[in-house]
Amino acid sequence: MRKIAVFASGSGSNFQALIDVVQSGQLDAEISLLVCDQPGAYAIERARAAKIPSFVFTAKDYPSKEHYEEEILTQLQTHGVEFIVLAGYMRLIGSKLLAEFKGRIVNIHPSLLPAFPGKDAVGQALAAKVKWSGVTIHFVDEGMDTGPIIIQERVRLDESETRESLQQKIQQREHKLYPSVLQMLLTQGDVVNDTKARTH
Ligand code: GAR
Repeated sequence: MRKIAVFASGSGSNFQALIDVVQSGQLDAEISLLVCDQPGAYAIERARAAKIPSFVFTAKDYPSKEHYEEEILTQLQTHGVEFIVLAGYMRLIGSKLLAEFKGRIVNIHPSLLPAFPGKDAVGQALAAKVKWSGVTIHFVDEGMDTGPIIIQERVRLDESETRESLQQKIQQREHKLYPSVLQMLLTQGDVVNDTKARTH
């Protein structure tokens, strides 16, 4: 069974969706570690409740990204992690971690990338008055929400759409899409092991 680490910075509703599908047997993986950069994040409570070890850090306690990612790497190795799942982790992944996990880091983003990358994709979509936004799952590279796209799903904005309603619609979609895409990726050994597969 593949050992995965989930990286989160906030509430962790996507993390919870993954915990639930692992527990129900719909996702053939073990969540071996939560990595969290916000000591107050609710994701940490979710890990505790599910008895998943967590590594929580504060970036400003380290001299640089290289230093805290070195420690993340040690934690990943200690827990035998093979695949990294970003779920609302609001930091760029540095070169060392990228090199060690080449083609084995995925991210979920609440827009149809390349539209509305970065923070507050939901707010950006509302401000742009678009009719459609959605969800993107992609491999991670050094850029912000820029890696090769695996899948996208559209979500329609209603006339009366609010931030809350759009956020809810998108997250409902995320909670279904992430488990199914991960099941596909993790059960295709070549995708996990062969980094060339990500550009095909
Ligand atoms: C999710 O909607 C995810 O797509 C987004 O953060 C939210 C985290 O929610 N990620 C990004 O914006 C990445 N650029 P959660 O903590 O409830 O899973």
